[in-house]
Amino acid sequence: MKRIFLADLHGNLPATLAMERALSSIPADETWFLGDAVGKGPSNAETCDWTRAHCDHWVGGNWDYGIGGKEFSEDQYFWDQLGPERMRWLNGLPREAEVTMGGLRFRLFHGRPVTSLLRAQDDKDLLASCFTTERGVFDGVIFADSHRPFIRTLNCGYIINTGSVGNSMGVPRAHALAVDEGPGGMLTMSILSVPYDNDAAAQIARDDLNLPHRESYIREVLTGIYSR
Ligand SMILES: [Fe+2]
Repeated sequence: MKRIFLADLHGNLPATLAMERALSSIPADETWFLGDAVGKGPSNAETCDWTRAHCDHWVGGNWDYGIGGKEFSEDQYFWDQLGPERMRWLNGLPREAEVTMGGLRFRLFHGRPVTSLLRAQDDKDLLASCFTTERGVFDGVIFADSHRPFIRTLNCGYIINTGSVGNSMGVPRAHALAVDEGPGGMLTMSILSVPYDNDAAAQIARDDLNLPHRESYIREVLTGIYSR
């Protein structure tokens, strides 16, 4: 059984299509979306529709709820691109889910708004608090939001970040998480690192004079350096 976990497409269509091509070479049994299909980039209807068409399970992220729920008036650009039906879908996404792999129970969420932004270097007590909910104690958590992929352990279990498809920090490639379940409970967990045409992504943004924070977005897709 192979599962893909991906998140943070953020309106970047060239990165999303590059990930689609990469995934076609390693067909998965299930694809999980862990939030932020939209916001930041210029191709939001496209990445929202891609997420709905290519994933099997969905969890929402802070941008999905912020735009879908019309939380901030500055997001008019995104509302105009998406329209009411997509916004309703985004705003109605569940905030978390769970999956059992290799006999281990993993909690799945985007990060915000379920919990504040989680980073690899965050305090271990803060990270450990994510393993326990009213639904019990989990053996691992898989989340996104910080746009930086990692796979590691704490004393309470695995903590894994999928990285970002469309707005990766650090290394400006498209990232996702692949988990293979083998015999006897064996898990192979890996980060997919997919190159894509960053110049094409930047050009789409350059050509869209109405994109909010356009220069910051262009810098981020070209360099992977967070810019606002
Ligand atoms: Fe994000």
